[in-house]
Amino acid sequence: MTTSKHNILITGGAGFIGSHVVRLFVNKYPDYHIVNLDKLTYAGNLANLSDIEDQPNYTFVRADICDFDTICQLLPQYKIDGIIHLAAESHVDRSIKDPFTFARTNVMGTLSLLQAARLYWESLPERYENKRFYHISTDEVYGALEMTCPEGRTSEISAHEVYGDDFFRETTKYCPHSPYSASKASSDHFVRAFHDTYGMPTIVTNCSNNYGPYQFPEKLIPLFINNIRHRKPLPVYGKGENVRDWLYVEDHARAIDTIFHHGIIAETYNIGGFNEWKNIDIIRVLIKTVDRLLGRTEGEDLNLITYVTDRAGHDMRYAIDSTKLKRELGWQPSLQFEEGIEKTVKWYLDNQEWMDNVTSGDYQKYYDDMYSNK
Ligand code: NAD
Ligand code: TYD
Repeated sequence: MTTSKHNILITGGAGFIGSHVVRLFVNKYPDYHIVNLDKLTYAGNLANLSDIEDQPNYTFVRADICDFDTICQLLPQYKIDGIIHLAAESHVDRSIKDPFTFARTNVMGTLSLLQAARLYWESLPERYENKRFYHISTDEVYGALEMTCPEGRTSEISAHEVYGDDFFRETTKYCPHSPYSASKASSDHFVRAFHDTYGMPTIVTNCSNNYGPYQFPEKLIPLFINNIRHRKPLPVYGKGENVRDWLYVEDHARAIDTIFHHGIIAETYNIGGFNEWKNIDIIRVLIKTVDRLLGRTEGEDLNLITYVTDRAGHDMRYAIDSTKLKRELGWQPSLQFEEGIEKTVKWYLDNQEWMDNVTSGDYQKYYDDMYSNK
């Protein structure tokens, strides 16, 4: 896709990753019109975008991706030629309690967007020319990897620790275990089916765990930073031995920008940082960093670690091989993990008001009042 003028619909732009993508596109491409479509579920928060909300090339629309009629109206109204689809239910623990909501939003919502885009773009004289449907997915669709070296060893690629010999590659067979990953896998299949059946210009990317500012504090890193600050227990699932591959959220947003403009239609790209960590090791780093930044004795809050019953079906290890993206499009992470964690902890400690608003649920009351008559 060229970098001449575009009208881009970003779904889920009020959430964690979506807000970073919206901010990047609004600031970097003043010629583009960015339409952020978000239902503002518990995970959507317009405060994440307060710094760009008045920019002339930005519009916010509160809507549900499952509302097919509304999406069918919005696409021609804003002459949308590119879609970056992030809206989803994203938390594994919630999917275990309430799988229906995940199937509805992640599967039916994605299908509704695909079908609306197909009907609109096929009605135009140029049809799919210079159009793009870019679906953001997760590495969790691939299932879980074995811990073949539980103590870890240094990777030849990144000089960082790895915990197994295998990695998720673009060719790895899908094997989702949680209702969340099953719903994301299903949506990925629908996206690819729309390319293969109707010729829609689609791209799918599968990314590893993100961390950084504006993440909802139900996820490991913001939850634990906030708990350490307030000296609340840190609920570590199982033995804390599970391994995740962490990427700073702004690096993910940069990858999305590169792939949206230069990715090859119908391709899949894996996005990751070659940055594997056992949960318990990250938790120790978080405790020491929060303690230091708050002027406490480093490590004095290690006693907050509380081992709790493991998550059902807890995937052991995720590790992404993103060499295709580096080789073909030149993207690689810019931040070392230690640097990214320091920035992230500082951000949450400096933005206690944001955190308090989210944990008290006040931001939701504000939207309910604001949108109640619309
Ligand atoms: P998030 O939960 O922080 O945000 C999701 C956003 O989608 C929220 O703003 C919410 O209001 C919106 N939304 C939910 N249901 C909607 C609906 N029916 N209609 C319109 N909007 C709706 O999620 P996130 O962590 O920013 O993840 C964004 C995307 O990236 C998801 O598709 C997720 O699967 C994927 N992903 C996330 C990670 C990660 O580590 N967070 C890693 C890889 C991929
Ligand atoms: P999470 O942030 O929920 O991301 P995901 O499940 O998508 O990887 O969890 C990251 C890891 O941290 C995962 O192995 C589960 C674990 N975890 C805990 O041990 N305790 C917690 O309270 C949470 C939220 C997660």
